[in-house]
Amino acid sequence: MNLIFLGPPGAGKGTMAVRLSNELNIPHISTGDIIRAAIRNETALGKQVEQIVEAGKLVSDDLTIALVKERLENDDTVNGFILDGFPRTLVQADALAKLCSIDCAVNFELKETEVVKRLSGRRVHKASGRTYHVLFSPPKAVDKDDLTGEELWQRPDDQEDSILTRLAVYHDQTAPLESYYRNLGLLVDLDSSPAPDQVYQDLKKSLSI
Ligand code: AP5
Ligand code: MG
Repeated sequence: MNLIFLGPPGAGKGTMAVRLSNELNIPHISTGDIIRAAIRNETALGKQVEQIVEAGKLVSDDLTIALVKERLENDDTVNGFILDGFPRTLVQADALAKLCSIDCAVNFELKETEVVKRLSGRRVHKASGRTYHVLFSPPKAVDKDDLTGEELWQRPDDQEDSILTRLAVYHDQTAPLESYYRNLGLLVDLDSSPAPDQVYQDLKKSLSI
């Protein structure tokens, strides 16, 4: 199954993609995770985009399309994939359509007030990307990763200024993709305001899994 997870920052795309990827045994491809790894590893790409990402703006279409094209060529995508955070512009959506077919685009819906709560309380284990929330999904020990005991991290783009920029960018550049995929008959709306277990059940139901 070739899936796209659409939706505002903090809606829970990554959290649900990890669960579904494990259950369906298909890769979770997050352009945000790929870009953050490049920044962490101080690659040429990472250095080029670090400030853009921290400010909550979008990396160029050319760069992100090239990243995804290369990733989709990997053999592990033969039985499907979950694209999380790509496409994010109409140019990216058109490029993706030339690379592969899509079975469904899930539109994670969440009010802005909830987005801000989720992002400001998010904590991440930098090396693995494991994600927690100080209130909604806390680690066993405060600010420590459950598996390694290492210190958790707050993404620089989870500061208030960047959150507001990301929301504005989402409305300007990514929200138009809802009608793009709706017009193709591929969009499924998902209320992502309930607790994670409920959202996961609703997600599977909407995909008839
Ligand atoms: P990216 O990493 O894709 O960030 P995003 O789209 O802003 O989305 P987030 O990862 O912030 O949120 P999420 O929906 O995954 O939520 P999560 O599951 O973590 O992109 C980052 C940056 O990279 C971009 O700003 C841009 O610069 C660049 N970039 C990436 N892709 C690009 C592209 N295609 N083009 C150009 N630039 C690109 O959940 C959030 C929190 O809520 C967590 O703490 C979680 O524990 C909690 N939570 C999750 N579900 C629930 C629930 N149901 N109830 C309560 N809490 C919950
Ligand atoms: Mg994410």
